[in-house]
Amino acid sequence: MKPPPSPVVLEYLDLDTPALALPTSSLDSAERERAARFHFEEDRRRFIHGRAWLRLRVADLLGIEPKAVEFTTVGERGKPAVLSPVGGSLLPTGTVPTFNLSHSAQHGLLALHAGGLPLGVDLELARPFERAARIAARHFNAAEAAAVATAAEGAEREAVFFRTWTRKEAYLKLTGLGLPGGLACVETGTEAAARSLRVPAEHGLASAWVTSLELPASTPAGLLAALAAPCAVPVDWRRG
Ligand SMILES: CC(C)(COP(=O)(O)OP(=O)(O)OC[C@H]1O[C@@H](n2cnc3c(N)ncnc32)[C@H](O)[C@@H]1OP(=O)(O)O)[C@@H](O)C(=O)NCCC(=O)NCCS
Repeated sequence: MKPPPSPVVLEYLDLDTPALALPTSSLDSAERERAARFHFEEDRRRFIHGRAWLRLRVADLLGIEPKAVEFTTVGERGKPAVLSPVGGSLLPTGTVPTFNLSHSAQHGLLALHAGGLPLGVDLELARPFERAARIAARHFNAAEAAAVATAAEGAEREAVFFRTWTRKEAYLKLTGLGLPGGLACVETGTEAAARSLRVPAEHGLASAWVTSLELPASTPAGLLAALAAPCAVPVDWRRG
């Protein structure tokens, strides 16, 4: 029997006031150019912090300096990925770590897998959203839309809506299709529990799995998150 995959390491970070020293000067020219294009200083700062954080964690895994980490993209919609290091990696030869990052306002969530399992994560801050039932009716699968519509208006409905949204977006980020893939392309469910998904053949995955995440107690209230991977995978929250 195949052994279970090693855990996906998850970490939350406040991108406005990060609780760790970030190597912000490690960004490459493409990242610096992108940072310069943000209209608002707040968005620029969050992007820089997010990229420096990602570089730091990938560098830790590879045993190289954050500025030596190189990124590429995969697929037509530009899913970011680590470029195979030329040499000196701490990981077994040929193993390239995978990651996926999500942010909602100043809140960041990073998922990292040392064994190279494709990942998708999404983080959302549940908030008042009057159009929840309308958006769900238009963009979710029928059973999901019905669950949103029948939830009590207000906080309960918003929780169901954003939980479902995070599960769908995590799946779309796993495949790299992103939102143009269509929120209704797979039924990811409204419950928090893990489920195996029926994946359309054209998505290029033999199987997929999604789960809502239980965030550590120290994480700000109101955040909802989900993780998608090709198969059931244990998770480890990184602290400190
Ligand atoms: C991927 C996507 C769903 C992310 O939306 P978002 O609201 O920014 O959500 P998140 O904060 O969860 O994710 C952002 C991170 O996802 C990652 N990402 C970018 N493209 C991705 C893709 N195709 N698949 C998976 N992850 C992707 C990046 O790390 C990005 O972080 P960065 O902005 O710091 O580089 C969205 O950008 C998308 O659909 N992209 C594909 C097509 C596209 O570019 N369309 C134009 C906008 S609809």
